[in-house]
Amino acid sequence: MLTDSQPKQETRQVRRTFAIISHPDAGKTTLTEKLLLFGGAIREAGAVKGKKARRHATSDWMEIEKQRGISVTSTVLQFVYRNQHINILDTPGHEDFSEDTFRTLTAADSAVMLIDAAKGVEPQTIKLFEVCRMRGIPIFTFINKLDREGKPPLELLEEIERVLGIRSCPMNWPIGMGGDFRGIYNRMDARFERYIDRSEETVSLAAGDIEDSRLREALGLTLHERLKEEVMLLDIAGDPFDEDLVASGRLTPVYFGSAIANFGVETFLNQFIELAPTPGRRKTDQGETDPRDPSFSGFVFKIQANMNPAHRDRVAFVRICSGRFERGMNVTHVRTGKRVNLAQPQQFFGQGREIIDEAYPGDIIGLFDPGLFRIGDTLCEEGAFSFEPLPLFSPEHFARVAVKSTLKYKQFHKGIEQLTQEGAIQVFRQVNRTEDLLLGAVGQLQFEVFAYRMKAEYGAEVDLSPMPYSLARWVEFPDMNAFQYDRYTNLLVKDQDERWVILCPNEFSLRWMNEKNPGIVLHKTSAGL
Ligand code: G4P
Repeated sequence: MLTDSQPKQETRQVRRTFAIISHPDAGKTTLTEKLLLFGGAIREAGAVKGKKARRHATSDWMEIEKQRGISVTSTVLQFVYRNQHINILDTPGHEDFSEDTFRTLTAADSAVMLIDAAKGVEPQTIKLFEVCRMRGIPIFTFINKLDREGKPPLELLEEIERVLGIRSCPMNWPIGMGGDFRGIYNRMDARFERYIDRSEETVSLAAGDIEDSRLREALGLTLHERLKEEVMLLDIAGDPFDEDLVASGRLTPVYFGSAIANFGVETFLNQFIELAPTPGRRKTDQGETDPRDPSFSGFVFKIQANMNPAHRDRVAFVRICSGRFERGMNVTHVRTGKRVNLAQPQQFFGQGREIIDEAYPGDIIGLFDPGLFRIGDTLCEEGAFSFEPLPLFSPEHFARVAVKSTLKYKQFHKGIEQLTQEGAIQVFRQVNRTEDLLLGAVGQLQFEVFAYRMKAEYGAEVDLSPMPYSLARWVEFPDMNAFQYDRYTNLLVKDQDERWVILCPNEFSLRWMNEKNPGIVLHKTSAGL
């Protein structure tokens, strides 16, 4: 930990580590591709395909993803832009994997919320936004597909504020939309960028101010008057840009553009890398770490087994929080107290991977995992502190699981153990029937992925029988012997870390339990337990 007497060591290069959150089809893959193009990480547009055309998008590596056309796993994409290291954490778009998204967001310093101008705030946007809010990280908004007819911009802002409960500050303003889309006006520097029909060319006009005659000429009188009116309205009635409110996640800067036409993306990226936070301090059980601390620390936020069927390996993804990471360094694995040598750190680009020699706070490294790591584990070079544990969320679906063939018993248990450690599924046990395993998932699709992976990766086919519960609560009892619950409708179990959990069919039975057991505390997540 950094003390005042220690010399402060600058983090060598600036990092911006963020995740893009959106409803499926809003254009996340397309936007990511354009960002990668600016960073020179890919050479041509179309390297990452749209959903229909996508066979093996860079971040889709699992067979099931290819079959279903969804993105299940999170990847990290890294590139250098204007001397800054940009780390994009890809999050699964499907709502059934929102727990994975939460874990990924713990490794991010900010989020980009992508909204389809025609659809506005969609259900998955709301769910992911709530996860960002729990983390209190800054959220930048990009409203996409302006080349198509969409909702009026003022209505979109009003929707963001009403549905998500966050104030908004448009940094640029669109002129027209769809067939009449003429470009965007940047409020900060009164610059006009003309949109020329998906040509990927931007004509930029530094107007000086909105009254500039060159702007009037470029837009024509009617559009210019309308722009002036709308911008005046924003100046008077809108929220001004406020860095502190953005930093605390209470105000979102909003940008308009078209990812597919690569329009407005560069302007967005240039402002984003100025405004988005660099890696900050992180809470531990012994105070806070500072990214400038000289000694290395980080935590595991994701474990992915069998990423590459040719290797059948397991990789733990670590977010670096302080110090400098060097290949071959020895660090303490705090949960077990073991010293471990980090010999083969890797960086990922979709299916590609390369060995890296050093990394800095904000970076994500992949470590070969011999079965040592669990989600939330801390690694540190000096001392033995722990970052805040990553919570489990209440599953919404439950099923009893059994192996089809008893000959595959060993594989079955190995699979369950590994997939639980990965956070792909939650497992619960009844106290007197420890052989009976119950699974919990936030979304039904998680069960399907689980069953598929058990068969494909561990060779164990499973039977899943749905159970009638829809929520779980982590319980703190004042007196466990006095605990009253209805044994016909509820089930008392232990989670994977031996914490007490009660499974319930509905909110009604929760209320009943609260009334019957004064002093009991029922937690929606395992945070802090
Ligand atoms: P996702 O990762 O968020 O799910 O979305 P993705 O980028 O795959 O984009 C979803 C669809 O929206 C794609 O069309 C893509 O081309 C289109 N799209 C993305 N950005 C824009 C934009 O700025 N304007 C317009 N008009 N469309 C956009 P598709 O038909 O599913 O695929 P494809 O036929 O383009 O390959």
